[in-house]
Amino acid sequence: MPCWGGCAAGSTCPTALSIRSVTSFRCLEPVSRYTRLGSFARRQKRLGKRPAVLMPNPFYHVYQGAAMVGGAEPIYLPARSEDNFLPVLEDLSEDLLARTSIFFLCTPGNPQGTTASADYLKRAIELAREHDFVLALDECYCEIYRGEAPVGGLEACAALGQGLDNVISFQSLSKRSSAPGLRSGFLAGDARIIERYSQFVAFGGSPLPLPVLHASTALWNDDAHVVENRAYYAGNFRLAEEILRPHIDLHIPAAGFFLWLDVGDGVQAARTLWREAAIKTLPGALMGRDDEHGCNPGAAYLRIALVYDPEKTERGLRRLAQTLFQS
Ligand SMILES: Cc1ncc(COP(=O)(O)O)c(C=O)c1O
Repeated sequence: MPCWGGCAAGSTCPTALSIRSVTSFRCLEPVSRYTRLGSFARRQKRLGKRPAVLMPNPFYHVYQGAAMVGGAEPIYLPARSEDNFLPVLEDLSEDLLARTSIFFLCTPGNPQGTTASADYLKRAIELAREHDFVLALDECYCEIYRGEAPVGGLEACAALGQGLDNVISFQSLSKRSSAPGLRSGFLAGDARIIERYSQFVAFGGSPLPLPVLHASTALWNDDAHVVENRAYYAGNFRLAEEILRPHIDLHIPAAGFFLWLDVGDGVQAARTLWREAAIKTLPGALMGRDDEHGCNPGAAYLRIALVYDPEKTERGLRRLAQTLFQS
């Protein structure tokens, strides 16, 4: 059983022991940066056609970069509020599915904090198997939730009962442990894909250095700080409820640490906040792409990261409310 830190078989390397929930190390690989996602897109042309990489719209932009690095066509699937901010799987045509190489799904989602249900995930997995593409589940926000923990892709695989075929889950320490600078995470899923990925890292990538792996092991082995982190973000969302609810139809997301606020014109609101209140937010339009009608599904929104300590968060939210809603 090879250790993913590169130690001899049977060793008690702490990195190998750190992730207890996945039973086979052939199904695991540490990763340093999500930009490596591009290697997944570099699959052979399908049926003589250009491979497609599917992603929700709006989306985390690395998915698009991954498609481009792999020479595939990025396909932006509308993720509307009325559909729980998830692409509608029934809308995917047979033609598109036939040339799909990867389908990136982010759950809980960045930017909206939406979580996919077990049924949704199971259907997405079934489609990946029927059409032989990789379902790449970006689950890096999965430990920051309010209420029930979101269902994970590997749980959905277990419920379907056909192993981990065609599914890869991406996990990261950057949100769970507030350690984005460590650039450490792991992939878990289909052993065939993990094997190819390991080869890619060994020959052309940059494996995680041992000190980073040891620090990562310590973080993965400790859940207490994750519970604290969840409480920290939950407190910030309570502040948002209290301060913003009187002014706007507020949706508190099930997970993640972003508010996805419908302000009518996200770019204008972001400019106003920056100019008049020194608050930096992200206009939703920058996370989206225009659809075929020239409509960007993120345009009305503002993404607000509730990541600062409660005192700063409260001050910022009050200033934001005053600037956007009371002037
Ligand atoms: C949806 C999503 N996926 C992946 C990442 C990147 O994670 P990492 O810091 O582990 O590269 C981020 C970071 O912002 C993200 O929002």
